[in-house]
Amino acid sequence: MWRRAGRLPGASSRVAALAVALLASLSRCSRPEPSEPGAAVASALSPYFGTKTRYEDAQPGLGPRAAEEDREGGACTPVQLVALIRHGTRYPTAKQIRKLRQLHAVLQSRGPGAGDDGLGADLARRPLWYADWMDGQLVDKGWQDMRQLARRLAARFPALFSRHNCRSRLRLVTSSKHRCVDSGVAFLQGLWQHHHPGLPPPDDVADMECVPPRINDKLMRFFDHCERFLNEVEKNTTALYHVEAFKKGPEMQKILNKVAATLQVPVNNLNADLIQVAFFTCSFDLAIKGIKSPWCDVFDIDDAKVLEYLNDLKQYWKRGYGYTINSRSSCTLFQDIFQHMDKAVEENQRSQQVSSPVVLQFGHAETLLPLLSLMGYFKDKEPLTAYNYKEQTHRKFRSGQIVPYASNLVFVLYHCKNAKTPKEEFQVQMLLNEKVLPLAYSQETVCLYEDLKNHYQDILQGCHASEECESPKMNSTSDEL
Ligand SMILES: *[C@@H]1O[C@H](CO)[C@@H](O)[C@H](O)[C@H]1NC(C)=O
Repeated sequence: MWRRAGRLPGASSRVAALAVALLASLSRCSRPEPSEPGAAVASALSPYFGTKTRYEDAQPGLGPRAAEEDREGGACTPVQLVALIRHGTRYPTAKQIRKLRQLHAVLQSRGPGAGDDGLGADLARRPLWYADWMDGQLVDKGWQDMRQLARRLAARFPALFSRHNCRSRLRLVTSSKHRCVDSGVAFLQGLWQHHHPGLPPPDDVADMECVPPRINDKLMRFFDHCERFLNEVEKNTTALYHVEAFKKGPEMQKILNKVAATLQVPVNNLNADLIQVAFFTCSFDLAIKGIKSPWCDVFDIDDAKVLEYLNDLKQYWKRGYGYTINSRSSCTLFQDIFQHMDKAVEENQRSQQVSSPVVLQFGHAETLLPLLSLMGYFKDKEPLTAYNYKEQTHRKFRSGQIVPYASNLVFVLYHCKNAKTPKEEFQVQMLLNEKVLPLAYSQETVCLYEDLKNHYQDILQGCHASEECESPKMNSTSDEL
């Protein structure tokens, strides 16, 4: 039952998880089962898994929704949907698997003084089930994440996701990474299922009666193409100073000592990276297999909060507000989204058919975070540093809630007719992970398209990746023109 729980998507998996937790607590009273009582622990730590959070854990209460054809009593009709989507649940990367093996080797080399029972011995005996070929690929659960997301969005916007639009007017752009291309294909499978209820989706893209995915790394992996970002952040050994300092700080040191004692290994054989990979393994086992991993038993909630902060610190300095170039490098993508909406507005005004009623863009957490930062979302008053862990307890910048697996930012463009005046207008509503995202600057839940463009006009007109991403020292004269 509990192995199956992980494969059931959406609401049903939460019901199943609840049932599992219930069973687990029941069995605890009657008969102790080594693997079962942990269900409660896994769900207790899962709010702190950062970018390795399951979509359903970040979004409790996602059910089918009524179609939104009739917002404001029929006055507004959706004319276009542009969605930026992170790939679904994935395997660990080769690098993470390598570190896990390293940690496993540390456990296996525990001295003869260390006992034969206890968590350290148990983890040392357990074979690792991760293999090199997995390297960041989309897992079954990830395919499901995408099919389910597609079906929910199609049910919510049935006219936009019509069969006809799918066949000829859908645009699907993706990062070249395997997990993103697969996510795009899985999404198309979900649309196919929406149009053919009850039938299993085809495996081959050619049979999906939909426009196939196109790869565009310049757009979806802009961070790989931004020279200045690469020089100043990605390849710069001091750019992540706060991440490194936090790894050596008192909060991490406390966990190191505690974990060393729990696992009965010398504290010198451990470091922050190995602790982090143990925590990741807890999250991967839950997200991929739907099981409560024994690796979770290494940590309590306070540890998980510290490790969440470590993960958020890295995202903050590498993808968020830490450096301006992190978000500025995404302005081409931001502009691309608005170009699609501009075109739809123009076509609609000329009473033409909108040529791209659905635009789907598949990328990474590293694609979404800079764009959300560019738009001013989840910005805390104080920066996240190595030294203000306590003060940042209630921070907005919490990657598990912003960019879990399958996270998505959707722009819905509406055409509205005002009954009293002959005036027609275009409105935009944004959804983050399928929930209305109020505007960062006004907290309104919907706004005029013109107002949105005005608010972001500096970015729309004044941000040019070719200039932003130029490394300053290479071209200091042209800067002064
Ligand atoms: C690396 O990052 C540090 C800290 O932000 C900065 O002072 C330095 O200029 C950066 N180095 C390069 C080559 O950009």
